[in-house]
Amino acid sequence: MKAQFFLPLPLALLPLVGSVPAPRASNPPLRGSEALVGYSPTEKIAPGPKPDIKCSLLPAQTADPQLGEYLDLEKVENPQPIRGNTGGDDPGPRNYYYDKINSDKLAPPRNRQWFHDQCSMADGLGIDSAGWARQENIDVMPAATEMAGVDMRLEPHGYRELHWHVAAEWSLVLNGSCRIQAVNENGQTFVDDVTAGDLWFFPPGVPHSIQALEAGVEFLLVFDDGAFSEDNTFLASEVFLHTPKSVLAQDLGVDVSAFKNLPDDELYIFGGTPAPKDIEKQNVTTPAGVIPRTQSYSYHLSEQPAHEVAGGSVKIADPATFPIASNFSAAIVTVHPGGMREIHWHPTSDEWTFFIQGQGRATLFSAPQSANTFDYRAGDVAYFPKSNSHYIQNTGDEDLVFVEVLQADLFTDIALGQWLASTPGRSYRTP
Ligand SMILES: *[C@@H]1O[C@H](CO)[C@@H](O)[C@H](O)[C@H]1NC(C)=O
Ligand SMILES: *[C@@H]1O[C@H](CO)[C@@H](O)[C@H](O)[C@H]1NC(C)=O
Ligand SMILES: *[C@@H]1O[C@H](CO)[C@@H](O)[C@H](O)[C@H]1NC(C)=O
Repeated sequence: MKAQFFLPLPLALLPLVGSVPAPRASNPPLRGSEALVGYSPTEKIAPGPKPDIKCSLLPAQTADPQLGEYLDLEKVENPQPIRGNTGGDDPGPRNYYYDKINSDKLAPPRNRQWFHDQCSMADGLGIDSAGWARQENIDVMPAATEMAGVDMRLEPHGYRELHWHVAAEWSLVLNGSCRIQAVNENGQTFVDDVTAGDLWFFPPGVPHSIQALEAGVEFLLVFDDGAFSEDNTFLASEVFLHTPKSVLAQDLGVDVSAFKNLPDDELYIFGGTPAPKDIEKQNVTTPAGVIPRTQSYSYHLSEQPAHEVAGGSVKIADPATFPIASNFSAAIVTVHPGGMREIHWHPTSDEWTFFIQGQGRATLFSAPQSANTFDYRAGDVAYFPKSNSHYIQNTGDEDLVFVEVLQADLFTDIALGQWLASTPGRSYRTP
């Protein structure tokens, strides 16, 4: 069944309250057009201004990170994932309450450590010289077996090192913009600029790199494996470190002296010089050509108008419009204050959800008799197993925005209200 959101239903079933905008004369469809796939010469990516983040750092945060001083962030306004000259600011979705009471997770004393506990939030944060990353996987949410996520920040001009991995990577840009680049198994090349609200996808094994443009970038990565870990990516620096230099020289056809200044550790996230403004300067083409636009690794979802519904709006991006991401289906859902994403379930996939803005409440019902209600804030992750029913209410006074990600070739759900309203009435004999 095609995805249905916030259907007009008998009010007894679905009390939708809150500010309901007047529908536009022509309501955009749930899905966008294939014109949004890939690079277009007319596309204009505005990197946006560098975020002007008002924050204060504790003296211990500017001290040598090796001292590992405890950070008491309880009274610090807008605490940041910064230690000495590592880490970077955090412009994007985040749970301040959680960050304040878990200072050692927000700004760990040594580079890149993942912290694990039983919390349902994206947790475990590693800081590096030009940014940071936090990840959620089965170590912290054992129920989340099919998907894992990473929230990553690259400071202006910062790089995520050239790398590849065994899992497929789907991404939503959360803030700022970046240049992404990849080469596929046919030797075809790809380069594009993406901005907040856009998507990218890299198939398993396809090597790629990411560089922040002048405002920096924060993005969400979702992997098709709950056991994924950022520690298990194949980094260009590590291929070099773990291959004899004589073999590298033979393989790349250069003298062995070319490798005398190899970094002695991974680079992972590191600073860079500004990317050329003209993307064509980085358009490396070989006789194999560029990746055909229909198979392109980017989708400019930011340019897709949202479909408006009674309690909010929704944008769907699935393989119907973004074919290369063949098993990733997603909906970006906005719920106005007082509204809710109706009671529903996904018949074909588990759901991995990341809260981008606001706060919400969900009850997950698992047959036969267990149910749990959870409160979420921006930066948190929720996981709803296949066919387990759930809803998400906006419990705040601003719009609630979240992204639902499925492992499916089409975004589908079944709504309780729609099912009941479409089922013949019965009467029951009382005993
Ligand atoms: C990025 O975050 C900053 C700081 O929160 C905000 O001012 C800016 O509007 C955001 N940019 C985008 C493109 O979302
Ligand atoms: C790169 O060059 C190819 C042709 O060689 C062209 O089709 C493509 O639009 C160019 N730009 C990008 C960013 O791919
Ligand atoms: C899509 O993902 C689901 C869940 O991980 C998996 O069972 C299915 O085989 C995948 N389909 C394809 C075509 O990869």
